[in-house]
Order: sequence, then structure tokens, then C-alpha cells
Amino acid sequence: MRKFVLAAAALGLAMTASIAGPVEDREALMKSFGASLGQLAPMAKGEKPFDAAAVAAALETLNANAAKFDVAALFPAGSGAGTEALPAIWENMADFQARVDKMKADVSALAANPPADQAKLGAALGTIGGNCASCHETYRAKKG
Ligand code: HEC
Repeated sequence: MRKFVLAAAALGLAMTASIAGPVEDREALMKSFGASLGQLAPMAKGEKPFDAAAVAAALETLNANAAKFDVAALFPAGSGAGTEALPAIWENMADFQARVDKMKADVSALAANPPADQAKLGAALGTIGGNCASCHETYRAKKG
């Protein structure tokens, strides 16, 4: 009986996820990016001891999530209203896609060859964070 209840609960969650829609999905994806950076940044700043295994794991997760950045599925035409996604996305789709591809390539290279010390982690975070910041600068509305 308990097994059945758990399976039903899992199904319920899966259904919620699939009907959530592109806006919720992309915001969840972005939050996952933020969470990965939140794991890495304290080590880059020296607030936490450098932990090579934790760095590799966080980059692995970030890479797996970056691979889910599917522009067509997450940013379908007409999905900008009431969100922080600016109309410029749909006016410059090729550029938006190119930025997604660059982030994926940067993250994938770093996950394949994780930074081995604090200084290299700092440089890696600069690269990753640059992708986030430059896209947000152009395509995400500033909070008023
Ligand atoms: C190619 C463009 C692009 C890249 C690259 C990108 N973002 Fe975003 N991000 C957006 C857009 C557009 C929004 C606004 C989405 C919306 O409001 O629907 C957003 C929103 C967010 C949000 C707010 C989500 C919410 O709940 O409203 C966070 C957090 C975020 N991004 C973090 C990141 C981080 C961290 C990275 C880098 C690792 C990153 N993003 C890379 C385009 C991008």
C-alpha cells in the first residue's frame, strides 16, 4: 500500500512538472544555475575550503542542467508577457541561441576539465558568470 501511495505521489509530481509550462520551466532552470554558482562561489572566494570533488560535482550538475537549455521549448514565441524575458529575445533569436550555445560550450569544457585550485575556480566562475551576466544585460528585464 505504501509503495502504491509513493508511486502515485511520484506520478503526481511528474504531471505537475509537465503541465507547468515554459515560463515556470525556464525559471526553474535558471534557479538551478544560480544554485550551482551558489555552491561554487564561496570556494572561489575562500569562504569555504577548496574541495575538488565538490567543484567537479557542482560543475557536472550545472553542465547537465545547461544541456536542458532548449530555447524553442523554454522560450516559445509569445511567452514573454508578464515575465522578465524581454521582447529582444524574439527579435534576435539567432543571437540569443548563440549565447546559449556559448554558455553550454563553456560549462561543458569546465565540467570535463574542472579547475584544480581556488584561483582557477575563480577564473572559471568569471567565465560562467560572464555568460549569465551578458545575456541578462540584453535579454532580461531589470527588477524595478
Ligand atoms: C542566453 C540567455 C541567458 C543565459 C546564458 C542565462 N540566463 Fe538567466 N535568465 C535569462 C532570461 C531571459 C531570464 C528571465 C526569464 C523569465 O522571467 O521568464 C533569466 C532569469 C534568471 C533568473 C531568475 C529566475 C526567476 O525565478 O525568475 C536567475 C536566477 C537566472 N536567470 C540565473 C542565471 C545564471 C546563474 C546563469 C548562468 C549560469 C544564467 N541565468 C544564464 C536569460 C539567460
